[in-house]
Amino acid sequence: MKKPTDIGQNRTGIATSPIDVKALLDSAAEGVPQASVEIAPLKAIRVAYSEAADPVGTMPPPASLRGAARALKGAIKGEKATVFLDLLGERLAFERTGTRLYQALLSKLDAADPHPGGPTRDELLKIHNEELAHFHLLADAIERLGGDPTVVTPSADIAGVASSGVLLVLTDSRTTLNEALKAILIAELADNDGWHLLADVAERLGQGELASQFQRALDEEEEHLARVRTWIARAIEGEVGVEEPIEPGEAAAPPPGGGQ
Ligand SMILES: [Fe+2]
Ligand SMILES: [Fe+2]
Repeated sequence: MKKPTDIGQNRTGIATSPIDVKALLDSAAEGVPQASVEIAPLKAIRVAYSEAADPVGTMPPPASLRGAARALKGAIKGEKATVFLDLLGERLAFERTGTRLYQALLSKLDAADPHPGGPTRDELLKIHNEELAHFHLLADAIERLGGDPTVVTPSADIAGVASSGVLLVLTDSRTTLNEALKAILIAELADNDGWHLLADVAERLGQGELASQFQRALDEEEEHLARVRTWIARAIEGEVGVEEPIEPGEAAAPPPGGGQ
């Protein structure tokens, strides 16, 4: 079976046809607009459109906030509640997609040759089940706050568009297990930050119980991230055939004072 790193018929580079290099460069130079003359009007149009555009979406009216929100100690009201529900809706959409990503990754694993140091079926199933449990945790939290978990909130919509490329990589039958893992890494990095933010916001809004549930989810997400990073490092090690283990990536150190 052919591997992506095998030599094939890739003709995208300029060195494919040295005889055409000059013509290609001349034509590219001709096509570059003069910064001051042509880019400025384009920029002005983009700014004008952005200033006049409606948002991608809005939140629904709080249908059952009055009754259900009372069940929670220190109910959140008004704008704070909609901002929080928007964030919860975003994570919910992400976890639903995350569950599907791991289902697709399991198919990649089934189709792949053995990968020493790579994921096992049980490990992928465990992560899949945790993503699904996180989805249910969020649906439950939204309901307890009087929201509707079936709503596509504006942030959920944006997150869906932003992560659509990851889904495309995972469901493309030509991509390998390792390529799929690199795409999943993008999702796990964003997911870690998302849960971190959510746990923090829940705590600041006085929702201690939710905050500790979200913190437990974050602990699991940190483990997902560490595992995916290690699988990628082991795969590259195998591909380049190095003796010394390659160090998996690490989280960047937080800026002093918590940053902004
Ligand atoms: Fe997740
Ligand atoms: Fe995850």
